Amino acid sequence: MTSVFTLEHRLPADYFTDALRADAFKGLTGHPKALPPVWFYDATGSDLFEQITRLEEYYPTRTEREILTARAPEIAAAVGARTLVELGSGSSEKTRILLDALRATGSLRGYVPVDVSESALRQAARAVTGSYPELDVHALVADFHQHLGLEATQGPRLLAFLGGTIGNLLPEERATFFERVSDELEPGDALLLGTDLVKDPATLVAAYDDSAGVTAAFNKNVLSVLNHGLNADFDPDDFRHVALWDPEQEWIEMRLRATRPLHVKIRDLDLVITFEDGEELRTEISAKFRPDRVRAELQRAGLTLEHWWSDSAGRFALSLAVPAPR
Ligand code: AVJ
Repeated sequence: MTSVFTLEHRLPADYFTDALRADAFKGLTGHPKALPPVWFYDATGSDLFEQITRLEEYYPTRTEREILTARAPEIAAAVGARTLVELGSGSSEKTRILLDALRATGSLRGYVPVDVSESALRQAARAVTGSYPELDVHALVADFHQHLGLEATQGPRLLAFLGGTIGNLLPEERATFFERVSDELEPGDALLLGTDLVKDPATLVAAYDDSAGVTAAFNKNVLSVLNHGLNADFDPDDFRHVALWDPEQEWIEMRLRATRPLHVKIRDLDLVITFEDGEELRTEISAKFRPDRVRAELQRAGLTLEHWWSDSAGRFALSLAVPAPR
């Protein structure tokens, strides 16, 4: 058997420049200043994120892997998926655990990794086609805010959204996302969702402010993305990495704090941005969840939580949800 590999582009032409321009303009001229986290992930940022996942302080990746390893056979048995669709698949490293379990049930025919990074998809897909020669791999270059990758796939489908990336969405974006999932899933399909859980603030903050400074470099990398993408002249040394826990919203916020008054030129936007001394730019929220909130948000969108799997320390959870009967 030979595997079929196809790659499909669903990003609008000029996505990277147009969307970056729009996000930078809106986010840097508004108050407080904020940028969406998608811009972290150029090649350098993706590499820094991979380094973060190996840090002692950053528990989510290894904890999710531990849960997946323990539960993959149950997940596979619960869905019997013909197609695995994975949003924000990145390096597809943890996916193998799922692919192995799904393959063992004998139902799996196709894998659809969806990511905005074509290079990450090509690399991941190459590794997957090598190890799973019987699988059709259809990589989709797309933004999961626009495409879930479910069209033209054969059910039953398992839609996996791992890593806790759901936490990067603001509450209203999350509601929209769950509604879209609910609309597009059919009976027999399921959503597998990874969520980081609320825990003591010291553990949370350490995960986003590691002692080796990798997360600080990851955070500041977004300034290089702006410099390269929009001809800006941010100096990363003018900013300090800040990670804080917001106990009301129950999310971690990453910010970049100006260490002196600044004027930054963004040539491609014909714009000069000023920062006051100490002014902050929010670069990411990473929401942490309680079981009731996950269940309630899914339910509100028409998705029923069927399984909740956590690690023994209760740090991270995987949930399996199915479309409620209509
Ligand atoms: C990849 C979105 C899950 O929010 O924990 C890691 C990104 N940011 N360290 C997260 C991230 C800072 C990460 N996700």
